[in-house]
Amino acid sequence: MHALSRILSKLGVASRTEAADMIAAGRVAVNGRPARDPEQPTDELRDRVEVDGRPVTGAEKVYLAMHKPAGVLTTARDPENRPTVYGLLPKKLGARVFPVGRLDGPTAGLLLFTNDTLVGDTLTNPDIGVPKTYEFKVKGQVTPAELERLKQGVTLDVGTETLPAQCRILSSNAGSTRLELTIREGKNRQVRRMGLAIGHEVVKLRRTRVGPVELGDLPSGQCRPLTAAEIRSLRAIGQRKR
Ligand code: URA
Repeated sequence: MHALSRILSKLGVASRTEAADMIAAGRVAVNGRPARDPEQPTDELRDRVEVDGRPVTGAEKVYLAMHKPAGVLTTARDPENRPTVYGLLPKKLGARVFPVGRLDGPTAGLLLFTNDTLVGDTLTNPDIGVPKTYEFKVKGQVTPAELERLKQGVTLDVGTETLPAQCRILSSNAGSTRLELTIREGKNRQVRRMGLAIGHEVVKLRRTRVGPVELGDLPSGQCRPLTAAEIRSLRAIGQRKR
């Protein structure tokens, strides 16, 4: 349930303020009854919302997986004109999509895009804790005790601890170690800071999975539409946990 004005803005009908004006002007009905309160709790999926007597349906939902290259920014515009993920989106999408969360500039890997705010909110909601998997390389050899610390939780800053995580060593040599880590949270630069917390600088970082969606062999810089099965799984997460 969300405020009626928020639903109208989420569905792309109008901004929240404009929606409130439309409601005040008596142009909006919910389940056949004129709405008067922009805060009226409304269920986007169950309630029938009409504007000027016409049912409101959201734009068609679009879901994309991008293999973001390192060096490309997760931002709409960069004052220094560096390349952004928007430059890598297909030209004809038929809808305005937004990135689900973000990856740091130097981080590569799976970044999802959608115009489905429910799925976007679910994937970024810390209370839901959708797992995200990263492969990364650190300088030096990670000891079993250091690996255990990554799994149990480390201190990033005074008072900021990471939650228990899954972590394993993929390979190592004298100079570096490759690891795979699955976390259920998304603190700022979390994986890099977790590396530093155990005394190892992260020199390469790539996200390989977000919930049910895998990066697989999608080439760097390319996008693909999510499959129907992936979309169903993403929607199911929100329905299970709400
Ligand atoms: N952890 C990081 O350090 N950077 C990212 O972009 C994502 C997770």
